[in-house]
Amino acid sequence: MANTANYIYQATEYNLSGLAGISDQTLEMHFKLYQGYVTNTNTLNEQIAELIAGGKAGTPAYAELTRRLGFEYNGMVLHEYYFGNMKKDGGVDPGASSAFYSAAEASFGSYDTWKTDFVGIGKMRGVGWAVASQDPTTGRLSNHWITLHEIGNVAGYKPILVMDVWEHAFLLDYKPAERPKYIEAFFQNIDWDAVNSRLGAA
Ligand SMILES: [Fe+2]
Repeated sequence: MANTANYIYQATEYNLSGLAGISDQTLEMHFKLYQGYVTNTNTLNEQIAELIAGGKAGTPAYAELTRRLGFEYNGMVLHEYYFGNMKKDGGVDPGASSAFYSAAEASFGSYDTWKTDFVGIGKMRGVGWAVASQDPTTGRLSNHWITLHEIGNVAGYKPILVMDVWEHAFLLDYKPAERPKYIEAFFQNIDWDAVNSRLGAA
């Protein structure tokens, strides 16, 4: 079938082999899940384009497919932020002179308070993400819990540090109740240069 969507997303390749506390096996499985979101995003766009071309915009089928865009698009994009803010031999904490440290201090009073909040969100029960976002208008950072992939995102805010806390992110390496151990491992792998480069001036 000819593709009628006007843009095809491609999965990004990440080389994250050898992370601390997150196995290559986990990453391999996780990359496949991510690629599924990319595929599903393209499939939805294609099917919606076909419905529009066939004069079926506004039909129940069109509405149902359109409602699924938030889940698939955010599943794709949040994984790209997540994989993109990790690296082998990353650092537990950013340097005190880094842009992120300054932004966390300005927004939360101290970096430690920011981290307590971010880690606390990561431990929340449920399926989702912990995300530190920046308000592009004020430059202020705030931490958010995203249920699934799409519930809790703030319109226009930029994800700065993204942590996947769906169980698939750690279940091959830790028990379901050991999410705190995975969060500790995640912090050992943060690519703070990548995180700092996402911050914009207010
Ligand atoms: Fe994931």
